[in-house]
Amino acid sequence: MKLTSVVLTALAGRATATSMEVLRQLKLATWSDLQESGAYDVDRYQALRAGTPCVNGKAGEYQCNKVDLVAFLRHQDMGSSTRKGNDVWGWTSSIGREFGAVGQTDGTAFVEILKDGSLVYLGRLPTQTSSSSWRDMKVIGDYVYIGAESSNHGLQVFDMKKLLTIQPGSPRTFSISSDLTARYSGFGNSHNIVAHEEKNMIYAVGTGSAAGCSGGLFMVNVTNPANPTKAGCLSAGGYVHDAQCVIYKGPDSRYTGREICFNYNEDSLDIADVTSKSNPVTISSTKYTGATYTHQGWLADDEMRFLLLDDELDEQEKKGPAANQRTTTYVVDITNLQRPIFTGTYQSPAKAIDHNQYVHKGFSYQANYGSGLRIVDVRSLKTDPTGQGLREVGFFDCHPADDSVGGRAEFVGTWSVYPYFASGHILLNSIERGIFVLKYTG
Ligand SMILES: *[C@@H]1O[C@H](CO)[C@@H](O)[C@H](O)[C@H]1NC(C)=O
Repeated sequence: MKLTSVVLTALAGRATATSMEVLRQLKLATWSDLQESGAYDVDRYQALRAGTPCVNGKAGEYQCNKVDLVAFLRHQDMGSSTRKGNDVWGWTSSIGREFGAVGQTDGTAFVEILKDGSLVYLGRLPTQTSSSSWRDMKVIGDYVYIGAESSNHGLQVFDMKKLLTIQPGSPRTFSISSDLTARYSGFGNSHNIVAHEEKNMIYAVGTGSAAGCSGGLFMVNVTNPANPTKAGCLSAGGYVHDAQCVIYKGPDSRYTGREICFNYNEDSLDIADVTSKSNPVTISSTKYTGATYTHQGWLADDEMRFLLLDDELDEQEKKGPAANQRTTTYVVDITNLQRPIFTGTYQSPAKAIDHNQYVHKGFSYQANYGSGLRIVDVRSLKTDPTGQGLREVGFFDCHPADDSVGGRAEFVGTWSVYPYFASGHILLNSIERGIFVLKYTG
C-alpha cells in the first residue's frame, strides 16, 4: 500500500479540523511516494531553451488558456541537489530590474527576469541548517526574509542588492554566515513568513514550541534589517498557518488606521488588532461549514470589504462545498471585523487542492497544486457577494501528469505564485520541475 493511502486511512473518521502535524504527515507521504517514482530525479524534466505561447489550449506539453509560457528553469539548473521547490517571492530593484527568490528544500535560488521575460540564474543561499520541504520567503524593501521547517533555522536576512552585480553565467553560492545581513535566531523552525511592508514587521508563523508562541504570530521588528528584534507574540488563537497584515482602511471605522492581521488558523478565520505588539487583541474567530484545514487567504479588494479564503484539505477529503473536489474558494464579507460572514464560494473548473493565492488589481492569482496557476476575476464581489460572479479568465497547468484523468486533489504541481511585477511577468514555482515565467494575455 502506498504511504499516502496509509495516512488517508488513518485520517478517516475524524470529526474536527486537521492539525498541522497530520497535514504534514499526509504531504510527506505524498512526496515520499513521488520521490520513489522518480519525480525529483536528475534530468527527469527537459530544459526549455525558449518560451512558447499558449495556442489552442496548449503551450508545449502544458494545458493553458490565455497564459503564455515565457521561460522556465529547472530546480537542478538553479543549483538544487534535492531538486524540489516550494515558496517564491519577488523583488524589484530601484531601477526596475525584476528578481525572484525561489524556494527549494535545500535553499533559496535567485533569478533575474529580463525585460523579454527570459530567466538568468544568479546564485543561491543554502539552507541555514538542514533541508526541509517547507521554506518560505517574503521581501521588505531590498531584503528577503527566509524561514524554514528545519530545526534551528531561524530567519535569514539577505540583501537582494547583492544580485545587482552578478554576471550572467557566473552564479554565486552565498555564504550562510558572511553573506547574510543578519540571522535572527529568536525562533528555530517556522512554517511560513508573513511580511507587513509598511510597518517593517515580519510575522513568523508555525514556529516550534521552543519559540514559546504556540505557533501564533511571532513578531519580528526589521526596521533595521541588520538587527531584527522581537516585538511581541500573539498566541491566543494558537497555531496560525498563514496571515495577511495591513493598516486598516476598510468600512469598520472602529479600526481605521489600526494594524489588523487576518489569520488563517487551521479551523477558523481569526482577525486580530496587533497595533500594540505587547498586547495584541483578537477581534473575532469565525468557523465555517466545510472547514477541514484553514490555510491561507487574501483581501479581495482595496476597500477591504471582502477576503478570499482557501481551505487546503476540503477537496481531498470531499468536505462541505468542496465535495466534488473542484478547487473551492470561500468568500468572506469582512465589513464588520467583529462578525465576518461567509457569503459564498467560488469553484474552479478544475479538480485540485488550493494552496496560495494573491490578489492584484481585481484578479486572484491562485497556485492550485495539480491544476497550476488559475487567474480569477473577482471584481464582481462589489455587487454580488455570493461568489457566483467570479470567473476564471486564464490558466497555466504546470502539472501535465494528471491531465488524462481530469485532475486529482493531491499535493503535486505548484506551491506558490508571485503576480506583482510591474512588467506583468508572473513567477510560478513548481514542486517537481522548477520556476516558470508566465504572462497573462487576456
Ligand atoms: C521597531 O524598531 C525601531 C528601531 O529600529 C523602533 O523605532 C520602533 O519603535 C520599533 N517598532 C516596534 C513596533 O517595536
